[in-house]
Amino acid sequence: MRQTQAKRIVLGLTGGIAAYKAAELARLLLKQGVEVQVAMTEAACHFITPATMQALTGRPVLVNQWDAITNGMAHIDTSRAADAIVVAPATADFISKLAHGLADDLLSTLCLARVCPLLVAPAMNKQMWAHAATQRNVVQLERDGVTILGPCSGVQACGEEGMGRMLEAEELALDIVAFLQGSKSLNGGSPTLTLPQGERGSIHKMDGVRILITAGPTYEAIDAVRGITNRSSGKMGYAVARAALELGAQVTLVSGPTALPKPQGAQVVDVTSAAEMFEAVKQHVAGAGIFIGVAAVADYRIAQPSTQKIKKSADKLTLELLPNPDILAYVANLPKPPFCVGFAAESENLHGHAKTKRKAKNIPLLVANLAQQAIGSDENELILFDDTGEHVLPRADKLTLARQLMQHIVMLRTNIKT
Ligand code: CTP
Repeated sequence: MRQTQAKRIVLGLTGGIAAYKAAELARLLLKQGVEVQVAMTEAACHFITPATMQALTGRPVLVNQWDAITNGMAHIDTSRAADAIVVAPATADFISKLAHGLADDLLSTLCLARVCPLLVAPAMNKQMWAHAATQRNVVQLERDGVTILGPCSGVQACGEEGMGRMLEAEELALDIVAFLQGSKSLNGGSPTLTLPQGERGSIHKMDGVRILITAGPTYEAIDAVRGITNRSSGKMGYAVARAALELGAQVTLVSGPTALPKPQGAQVVDVTSAAEMFEAVKQHVAGAGIFIGVAAVADYRIAQPSTQKIKKSADKLTLELLPNPDILAYVANLPKPPFCVGFAAESENLHGHAKTKRKAKNIPLLVANLAQQAIGSDENELILFDDTGEHVLPRADKLTLARQLMQHIVMLRTNIKT
Protein backbone atom coordinates (compact mmCIF):
# COMPACT_ATOMS: atom_id res chain seq x y z
CA MET A 1 0.00 0.00 0.00
CA ARG A 2 1.19 3.53 -0.65
CA GLN A 3 1.27 6.29 1.85
CA THR A 4 -1.81 8.52 1.95
CA GLN A 5 -1.65 12.23 2.63
CA ALA A 6 -2.86 13.05 6.14
CA LYS A 7 -6.37 11.69 5.72
CA ARG A 8 -8.56 11.39 8.74
CA ILE A 9 -11.23 8.85 9.51
CA VAL A 10 -13.59 8.16 12.34
CA LEU A 11 -13.35 4.44 13.04
CA GLY A 12 -16.60 3.29 14.64
CA LEU A 13 -16.73 0.02 16.57
CA THR A 14 -19.97 -1.71 17.45
CA GLY A 15 -20.58 -4.71 19.68
CA GLY A 16 -19.42 -7.83 17.91
CA ILE A 17 -16.57 -10.27 18.44
CA ALA A 18 -14.90 -8.95 15.27
CA ALA A 19 -14.16 -5.79 17.29
CA TYR A 20 -10.79 -7.35 18.12
CA LYS A 21 -9.85 -6.92 14.43
CA ALA A 22 -10.42 -3.18 14.74
CA ALA A 23 -7.23 -2.84 16.81
CA GLU A 24 -5.16 -4.24 13.96
CA LEU A 25 -7.15 -2.18 11.45
CA ALA A 26 -6.39 1.02 13.37
CA ARG A 27 -2.71 0.08 13.51
CA LEU A 28 -2.52 -0.61 9.75
CA LEU A 29 -4.30 2.65 8.91
CA LEU A 30 -2.02 4.66 11.17
CA LYS A 31 0.96 3.02 9.47
CA GLN A 32 -0.41 4.35 6.19
CA GLY A 33 -0.49 7.88 7.58
CA VAL A 34 -4.25 7.91 8.16
CA GLU A 35 -5.34 9.74 11.33
CA VAL A 36 -7.79 7.57 13.25
CA GLN A 37 -10.36 8.89 15.73
CA VAL A 38 -12.13 5.97 17.37
CA ALA A 39 -15.77 6.08 18.45
CA MET A 40 -17.24 3.03 20.18
CA THR A 41 -20.71 1.99 21.19
CA GLU A 42 -21.24 0.80 24.77
CA ALA A 43 -21.63 -2.74 23.43
CA ALA A 44 -18.28 -2.57 21.62
CA CYS A 45 -16.61 -1.85 24.98
CA HIS A 46 -17.62 -5.34 26.11
CA PHE A 47 -15.44 -6.82 23.37
CA ILE A 48 -12.42 -4.51 23.34
CA THR A 49 -11.52 -1.72 25.72
CA PRO A 50 -11.38 1.96 24.78
CA ALA A 51 -7.96 1.96 26.50
CA THR A 52 -6.62 -0.41 23.82
CA MET A 53 -7.90 1.76 21.02
CA GLN A 54 -6.70 4.92 22.72
CA ALA A 55 -3.21 3.49 23.24
CA LEU A 56 -3.02 2.49 19.58
CA THR A 57 -4.34 5.73 18.12
CA GLY A 58 -3.00 8.17 20.68
CA ARG A 59 -6.40 9.86 20.87
CA PRO A 60 -9.13 9.71 23.51
CA VAL A 61 -11.88 7.36 22.39
CA LEU A 62 -15.42 8.69 22.10
CA VAL A 63 -18.01 6.46 23.71
CA ASN A 64 -20.64 8.29 25.65
CA GLN A 65 -22.40 11.09 23.82
CA TRP A 66 -22.76 13.06 27.04
CA ASP A 67 -19.09 12.65 28.10
CA ALA A 68 -17.93 13.43 24.61
CA ILE A 69 -19.53 16.82 24.45
CA THR A 70 -16.72 19.28 24.94
CA ASN A 71 -18.35 22.17 23.21
CA GLY A 72 -21.83 20.76 22.97
CA MET A 73 -21.40 19.72 19.34
CA ALA A 74 -19.07 16.71 19.36
CA HIS A 75 -21.34 14.76 17.01
CA ILE A 76 -21.08 17.51 14.42
CA ASP A 77 -17.43 18.51 14.88
CA THR A 78 -15.98 15.01 14.91
CA SER A 79 -17.54 13.99 11.62
CA ARG A 80 -16.85 17.39 9.98
CA ALA A 81 -13.13 16.89 10.48
CA ALA A 82 -13.21 13.41 8.91
CA ASP A 83 -12.71 12.31 5.31
CA ALA A 84 -14.85 9.27 6.04
CA ILE A 85 -16.53 7.33 8.81
CA VAL A 86 -15.77 3.62 8.78
CA VAL A 87 -17.88 1.35 10.98
CA ALA A 88 -15.98 -1.90 11.51
CA PRO A 89 -17.36 -4.12 12.81
CA ALA A 90 -20.96 -3.15 12.04
CA THR A 91 -23.46 -5.43 13.75
CA ALA A 92 -26.87 -6.30 12.30
CA ASP A 93 -28.37 -4.05 14.96
CA PHE A 94 -26.20 -1.08 14.05
CA ILE A 95 -26.86 -1.57 10.32
CA SER A 96 -30.56 -1.55 11.10
CA LYS A 97 -30.13 1.69 13.05
CA LEU A 98 -28.27 3.30 10.15
CA ALA A 99 -30.88 2.17 7.64
CA HIS A 100 -33.61 3.75 9.73
CA GLY A 101 -31.76 6.93 10.60
CA LEU A 102 -31.71 6.32 14.34
CA ALA A 103 -29.36 8.39 16.46
CA ASP A 104 -29.57 7.11 20.01
CA ASP A 105 -25.89 6.94 20.87
CA LEU A 106 -22.75 8.84 19.94
CA LEU A 107 -21.69 6.68 16.98
CA SER A 108 -25.11 6.54 15.33
CA THR A 109 -25.45 10.29 15.90
CA LEU A 110 -22.07 10.89 14.26
CA CYS A 111 -23.18 8.81 11.27
CA LEU A 112 -26.48 10.64 10.90
CA ALA A 113 -24.89 14.07 11.28
CA ARG A 114 -22.03 13.41 8.86
CA VAL A 115 -21.37 15.10 5.55
CA CYS A 116 -18.53 12.72 4.65
CA PRO A 117 -18.83 9.24 3.10
CA LEU A 118 -19.75 6.27 5.27
CA LEU A 119 -18.16 2.84 4.89
CA VAL A 120 -19.59 -0.11 6.75
CA ALA A 121 -18.00 -3.52 7.33
CA PRO A 122 -20.74 -5.95 8.41
CA ALA A 123 -19.86 -8.67 10.91
CA MET A 124 -22.41 -11.15 12.11
CA ASN A 125 -23.61 -14.73 12.24
CA LYS A 126 -24.61 -16.16 8.85
CA GLN A 127 -28.30 -16.42 9.74
CA MET A 128 -28.38 -12.80 10.85
CA TRP A 129 -26.67 -11.77 7.59
CA ALA A 130 -29.02 -13.86 5.46
CA HIS A 131 -32.12 -12.60 7.28
CA ALA A 132 -34.46 -10.66 5.00
CA ALA A 133 -34.45 -7.72 7.43
CA THR A 134 -30.65 -7.39 7.32
CA GLN A 135 -30.56 -7.72 3.55
CA ARG A 136 -33.28 -5.08 3.25
CA ASN A 137 -31.31 -2.77 5.50
CA VAL A 138 -28.10 -3.26 3.57
CA VAL A 139 -29.86 -2.54 0.28
CA GLN A 140 -31.26 0.60 1.87
CA LEU A 141 -27.82 1.70 2.99
CA GLU A 142 -26.44 1.26 -0.51
CA ARG A 143 -29.34 3.27 -1.90
CA ASP A 144 -28.34 5.95 0.58
CA GLY A 145 -24.83 5.95 -0.86
CA VAL A 146 -23.17 3.97 1.91
CA THR A 147 -20.32 1.69 0.85
CA ILE A 148 -20.49 -1.87 2.16
CA LEU A 149 -17.14 -3.63 2.61
CA GLY A 150 -17.64 -7.39 2.63
CA PRO A 151 -18.64 -9.42 4.49
CA CYS A 152 -16.99 -12.67 3.47
CA SER A 153 -17.63 -16.29 4.10
CA GLY A 154 -15.74 -18.43 6.58
CA VAL A 155 -15.71 -20.02 10.00
CA GLN A 156 -17.54 -17.82 12.48
CA ALA A 157 -16.96 -17.18 16.16
CA CYS A 158 -20.10 -19.22 16.93
CA GLY A 159 -18.54 -22.22 15.19
CA GLU A 160 -20.86 -22.10 12.19
CA GLU A 161 -19.53 -21.50 8.71
CA GLY A 162 -20.95 -19.10 6.16
CA MET A 163 -21.35 -15.53 4.96
CA GLY A 164 -21.20 -12.77 7.53
CA ARG A 165 -17.63 -12.81 8.70
CA MET A 166 -15.97 -9.40 8.74
CA LEU A 167 -13.17 -8.89 6.20
CA GLU A 168 -9.69 -9.19 7.69
CA ALA A 169 -8.03 -6.02 8.94
CA GLU A 170 -5.51 -6.11 6.12
CA GLU A 171 -8.25 -6.33 3.49
CA LEU A 172 -10.25 -3.54 5.11
CA ALA A 173 -7.17 -1.34 5.35
CA LEU A 174 -6.53 -1.89 1.63
CA ASP A 175 -10.12 -0.93 0.79
CA ILE A 176 -10.13 2.12 3.04
CA VAL A 177 -6.79 3.43 1.78
CA ALA A 178 -7.94 2.86 -1.82
CA PHE A 179 -11.08 4.82 -1.00
CA LEU A 180 -9.17 7.67 0.59
CA GLN A 181 -6.92 7.79 -2.45
CA GLY A 182 -10.01 8.55 -4.49
CA SER A 183 -10.87 5.13 -5.88
CA LYS A 184 -14.20 5.51 -7.67
CA SER A 185 -15.15 1.92 -7.01
CA LEU A 186 -15.70 2.62 -3.37
CA ASN A 187 -17.27 6.01 -3.82
CA GLY A 188 -20.86 5.69 -2.70
CA GLY A 189 -22.18 8.18 -5.22
CA SER A 190 -20.24 7.13 -8.27
CA PRO A 191 -22.04 5.71 -11.29
CA THR A 192 -19.05 3.42 -11.86
CA LEU A 193 -19.55 1.92 -8.43
CA THR A 194 -18.46 -1.70 -8.58
CA LEU A 195 -20.89 -2.77 -5.91
CA PRO A 196 -23.77 -0.80 -7.39
CA GLN A 197 -26.20 1.13 -5.26
CA GLY A 198 -29.27 -0.83 -4.43
CA GLU A 199 -27.57 -4.03 -5.41
CA ARG A 200 -26.38 -5.69 -2.26
CA GLY A 201 -27.98 -8.30 -4.40
CA SER A 202 -24.43 -8.13 -5.71
CA ILE A 203 -23.76 -10.36 -2.73
CA HIS A 204 -26.27 -12.77 -4.18
CA LYS A 205 -25.36 -12.38 -7.81
CA MET A 206 -23.04 -15.33 -7.62
CA ASP A 207 -24.59 -17.17 -4.70
CA GLY A 208 -24.09 -20.86 -5.28
CA VAL A 209 -21.84 -20.30 -8.31
CA ARG A 210 -18.59 -22.22 -8.11
CA ILE A 211 -15.63 -20.29 -9.46
CA LEU A 212 -12.26 -21.84 -10.09
CA ILE A 213 -9.38 -19.37 -10.28
CA THR A 214 -5.68 -19.87 -10.96
CA ALA A 215 -3.26 -17.28 -9.63
CA GLY A 216 0.38 -16.49 -9.15
CA PRO A 217 3.44 -17.81 -10.93
CA THR A 218 4.49 -21.41 -11.35
CA TYR A 219 7.93 -22.72 -10.48
CA GLU A 220 9.61 -25.28 -12.69
CA ALA A 221 12.45 -27.07 -10.90
CA ILE A 222 15.84 -27.33 -12.58
CA ASP A 223 17.39 -29.19 -9.67
CA ALA A 224 16.91 -29.54 -5.91
CA VAL A 225 17.42 -25.82 -5.25
CA ARG A 226 16.99 -23.95 -8.54
CA GLY A 227 14.10 -23.35 -10.86
CA ILE A 228 12.47 -21.23 -13.54
CA THR A 229 9.68 -18.90 -12.50
CA ASN A 230 8.38 -15.43 -13.34
CA ARG A 231 7.69 -12.16 -11.56
CA SER A 232 3.95 -12.62 -11.06
CA SER A 233 3.00 -11.70 -7.47
CA GLY A 234 -0.46 -13.30 -7.54
CA LYS A 235 -2.06 -10.01 -6.47
CA MET A 236 -4.47 -9.83 -9.41
CA GLY A 237 -5.65 -13.44 -9.04
CA TYR A 238 -6.13 -13.02 -5.30
CA ALA A 239 -8.06 -9.78 -5.88
CA VAL A 240 -10.31 -11.62 -8.37
CA ALA A 241 -10.89 -14.31 -5.74
CA ARG A 242 -11.86 -11.69 -3.16
CA ALA A 243 -14.18 -9.90 -5.58
CA ALA A 244 -15.87 -13.24 -6.40
CA LEU A 245 -16.27 -14.02 -2.68
CA GLU A 246 -17.89 -10.62 -2.17
CA LEU A 247 -20.50 -11.66 -4.72
CA GLY A 248 -21.26 -14.78 -2.75
CA ALA A 249 -19.46 -17.23 -5.03
CA GLN A 250 -17.87 -20.45 -3.81
CA VAL A 251 -14.26 -19.87 -4.74
CA THR A 252 -11.50 -22.39 -5.28
CA LEU A 253 -8.16 -20.67 -5.76
CA VAL A 254 -5.37 -22.75 -7.23
CA SER A 255 -2.32 -20.74 -6.35
CA GLY A 256 1.30 -20.91 -7.37
CA PRO A 257 3.90 -19.75 -4.82
CA THR A 258 3.02 -16.27 -3.50
CA ALA A 259 3.60 -14.31 -0.31
CA LEU A 260 -0.02 -13.15 -0.08
CA PRO A 261 -2.54 -13.72 2.73
CA LYS A 262 -5.15 -16.27 1.72
CA PRO A 263 -8.54 -14.74 0.87
CA GLN A 264 -10.91 -15.61 3.71
CA GLY A 265 -13.59 -18.00 2.63
CA ALA A 266 -11.82 -19.36 -0.44
CA GLN A 267 -10.66 -22.93 -0.74
CA VAL A 268 -7.00 -22.44 -1.54
CA VAL A 269 -5.04 -25.21 -3.24
CA ASP A 270 -1.32 -24.50 -3.12
CA VAL A 271 0.73 -25.77 -6.03
CA THR A 272 4.23 -25.20 -7.28
CA SER A 273 4.65 -26.31 -10.89
CA ALA A 274 2.44 -25.96 -13.95
CA ALA A 275 1.91 -29.73 -13.91
CA GLU A 276 0.62 -29.53 -10.31
CA MET A 277 -1.59 -26.58 -11.22
CA PHE A 278 -3.00 -28.57 -14.14
CA GLU A 279 -3.74 -31.56 -11.87
CA ALA A 280 -5.44 -29.33 -9.27
CA VAL A 281 -7.56 -27.67 -11.96
CA LYS A 282 -8.59 -31.03 -13.39
CA GLN A 283 -9.56 -32.14 -9.88
CA HIS A 284 -11.67 -29.09 -9.06
CA VAL A 285 -13.18 -28.07 -12.40
CA ALA A 286 -16.22 -30.34 -12.20
CA GLY A 287 -19.22 -28.27 -11.20
CA ALA A 288 -17.46 -24.94 -11.72
CA GLY A 289 -19.64 -22.38 -13.47
CA ILE A 290 -16.74 -20.05 -14.15
CA PHE A 291 -13.03 -20.58 -14.70
CA ILE A 292 -10.68 -17.61 -14.51
CA GLY A 293 -7.07 -18.26 -15.48
CA VAL A 294 -5.11 -15.43 -13.91
CA ALA A 295 -1.97 -17.45 -13.25
CA ALA A 296 1.21 -16.74 -15.14
CA VAL A 297 1.77 -20.37 -15.99
CA ALA A 298 5.25 -21.28 -17.20
CA ASP A 299 4.99 -22.28 -20.83
CA TYR A 300 7.89 -24.74 -20.47
CA ARG A 301 9.31 -27.10 -17.87
CA ILE A 302 12.71 -28.76 -17.55
CA ALA A 303 12.72 -32.10 -19.36
CA GLN A 304 14.78 -33.85 -16.69
CA PRO A 305 15.04 -31.92 -13.44
CA SER A 306 17.85 -33.18 -11.22
CA THR A 307 16.85 -34.41 -7.79
CA GLN A 308 20.27 -33.30 -6.51
CA LYS A 309 21.86 -29.88 -6.78
CA ILE A 310 23.74 -29.61 -10.07
CA LYS A 311 27.40 -28.89 -9.43
CA LYS A 312 29.10 -26.24 -11.53
CA SER A 313 31.74 -27.19 -14.03
CA ALA A 314 33.66 -25.48 -16.78
CA ASP A 315 31.41 -27.08 -19.40
CA LYS A 316 28.50 -25.48 -21.16
CA LEU A 317 25.17 -26.44 -19.61
CA THR A 318 22.15 -26.91 -21.84
CA LEU A 319 18.70 -27.27 -20.34
CA GLU A 320 16.10 -29.05 -22.40
CA LEU A 321 12.62 -27.57 -22.04
CA LEU A 322 9.33 -29.27 -22.78
CA PRO A 323 6.08 -27.39 -23.39
CA ASN A 324 3.62 -27.40 -20.48
CA PRO A 325 -0.06 -28.20 -21.01
CA ASP A 326 -2.22 -25.14 -21.60
CA ILE A 327 -4.57 -25.28 -18.62
CA LEU A 328 -7.00 -22.64 -19.86
CA ALA A 329 -7.25 -24.24 -23.30
CA TYR A 330 -7.92 -27.61 -21.63
CA VAL A 331 -10.78 -26.19 -19.55
CA ALA A 332 -12.22 -24.20 -22.46
CA ASN A 333 -12.33 -27.34 -24.60
CA LEU A 334 -14.05 -29.59 -22.08
CA PRO A 335 -17.33 -31.05 -23.41
CA LYS A 336 -19.33 -28.75 -21.11
CA PRO A 337 -16.89 -25.98 -20.28
CA PRO A 338 -17.50 -23.41 -17.57
CA PHE A 339 -17.59 -19.75 -18.61
CA CYS A 340 -13.86 -19.24 -19.28
CA VAL A 341 -11.90 -16.07 -18.71
CA GLY A 342 -8.26 -15.76 -19.71
CA PHE A 343 -5.64 -13.18 -18.88
CA ALA A 344 -2.95 -12.03 -21.25
CA ALA A 345 0.10 -10.14 -20.15
CA GLU A 346 1.77 -8.69 -23.21
CA SER A 347 4.87 -6.57 -23.52
CA GLU A 348 3.87 -5.14 -26.93
CA ASN A 349 1.02 -5.12 -29.50
CA LEU A 350 -1.52 -5.62 -26.72
CA HIS A 351 -4.62 -5.38 -28.91
CA GLY A 352 -3.37 -7.66 -31.67
CA HIS A 353 -2.04 -10.37 -29.36
CA ALA A 354 -5.11 -10.24 -27.12
CA LYS A 355 -7.57 -10.69 -29.97
CA THR A 356 -5.57 -13.56 -31.45
CA LYS A 357 -5.23 -15.22 -28.04
CA ARG A 358 -8.98 -15.02 -27.32
CA LYS A 359 -9.73 -16.80 -30.59
CA ALA A 360 -6.91 -19.33 -30.19
CA LYS A 361 -8.03 -20.24 -26.67
CA ASN A 362 -11.68 -20.32 -27.69
CA ILE A 363 -12.88 -18.23 -24.72
CA PRO A 364 -15.67 -15.66 -24.37
CA LEU A 365 -13.61 -13.14 -22.38
CA LEU A 366 -9.94 -12.23 -22.38
CA VAL A 367 -8.46 -9.69 -20.01
CA ALA A 368 -5.37 -8.01 -21.38
CA ASN A 369 -2.79 -5.89 -19.66
CA LEU A 370 0.72 -4.67 -20.30
CA ALA A 371 3.13 -6.91 -18.40
CA GLN A 372 5.51 -4.08 -17.55
CA GLN A 373 2.65 -2.11 -15.92
CA ALA A 374 1.07 -5.01 -14.11
CA ILE A 375 3.66 -7.37 -12.68
CA GLY A 376 4.25 -6.91 -8.97
CA SER A 377 2.35 -3.59 -8.92
CA ASP A 378 -0.64 -2.82 -6.68
CA GLU A 379 -2.31 -1.08 -9.61
CA ASN A 380 -3.07 -1.96 -13.17
CA GLU A 381 -5.09 -1.01 -16.22
CA LEU A 382 -7.11 -3.65 -18.06
CA ILE A 383 -8.76 -4.07 -21.42
CA LEU A 384 -11.54 -6.65 -21.63
CA PHE A 385 -12.04 -8.31 -25.02
CA ASP A 386 -15.34 -10.08 -25.61
CA ASP A 387 -17.78 -10.71 -28.46
CA THR A 388 -19.01 -7.13 -28.32
CA GLY A 389 -15.55 -5.58 -28.56
CA GLU A 390 -13.19 -3.88 -26.12
CA HIS A 391 -13.88 -2.40 -22.69
CA VAL A 392 -11.23 -0.36 -20.94
CA LEU A 393 -10.98 -0.50 -17.14
CA PRO A 394 -8.87 2.55 -16.34
CA ARG A 395 -5.92 2.49 -14.00
CA ALA A 396 -6.92 1.56 -10.44
CA ASP A 397 -5.89 -0.72 -7.61
CA LYS A 398 -6.22 -4.40 -8.43
CA LEU A 399 -9.18 -5.06 -6.13
CA THR A 400 -11.16 -2.28 -7.79
CA LEU A 401 -10.37 -3.75 -11.21
CA ALA A 402 -11.24 -7.24 -10.00
CA ARG A 403 -14.65 -6.03 -8.81
CA GLN A 404 -15.30 -4.35 -12.16
CA LEU A 405 -14.21 -7.50 -13.96
CA MET A 406 -16.58 -9.62 -11.87
CA GLN A 407 -19.45 -7.27 -12.66
CA HIS A 408 -18.62 -7.62 -16.37
CA ILE A 409 -18.61 -11.41 -16.04
CA VAL A 410 -22.00 -11.30 -14.26
CA MET A 411 -23.35 -9.17 -17.11
CA LEU A 412 -21.96 -11.44 -19.86
CA ARG A 413 -23.31 -14.59 -18.19
CA THR A 414 -26.73 -12.98 -17.78
CA ASN A 415 -26.74 -12.08 -21.47
CA ILE A 416 -25.74 -15.60 -22.44
CA LYS A 417 -28.56 -17.11 -20.37
CA THR A 418 -31.25 -14.74 -21.68
N1 CTP B 1 -2.41 -20.29 -19.41
C1 CTP B 1 -2.67 -21.55 -18.92
N2 CTP B 1 -1.77 -22.55 -19.07
C2 CTP B 1 -0.60 -22.32 -19.69
C3 CTP B 1 -0.32 -21.03 -20.19
C4 CTP B 1 -1.24 -20.04 -20.03
O1 CTP B 1 -3.75 -21.77 -18.34
N3 CTP B 1 0.27 -23.31 -19.82
C5 CTP B 1 -3.43 -19.25 -19.26
C6 CTP B 1 -3.05 -18.11 -18.36
O2 CTP B 1 -3.47 -18.33 -17.02
C7 CTP B 1 -3.78 -16.95 -18.99
C8 CTP B 1 -3.79 -17.27 -20.45
O3 CTP B 1 -3.59 -18.67 -20.52
O4 CTP B 1 -5.13 -16.89 -18.59
C9 CTP B 1 -2.78 -16.54 -21.27
O5 CTP B 1 -1.51 -16.90 -20.93
P1 CTP B 1 -0.24 -16.36 -21.74
O6 CTP B 1 0.97 -16.98 -21.14
O7 CTP B 1 -0.28 -14.89 -21.86
O8 CTP B 1 -0.54 -16.93 -23.14
P2 CTP B 1 0.17 -18.01 -23.93
O9 CTP B 1 -0.92 -18.75 -24.62
O10 CTP B 1 1.05 -18.83 -23.05
O11 CTP B 1 0.97 -17.18 -24.99
P3 CTP B 1 2.38 -16.42 -24.94
O12 CTP B 1 3.12 -16.86 -23.73
O13 CTP B 1 3.01 -16.80 -26.20
O14 CTP B 1 2.04 -14.96 -24.90
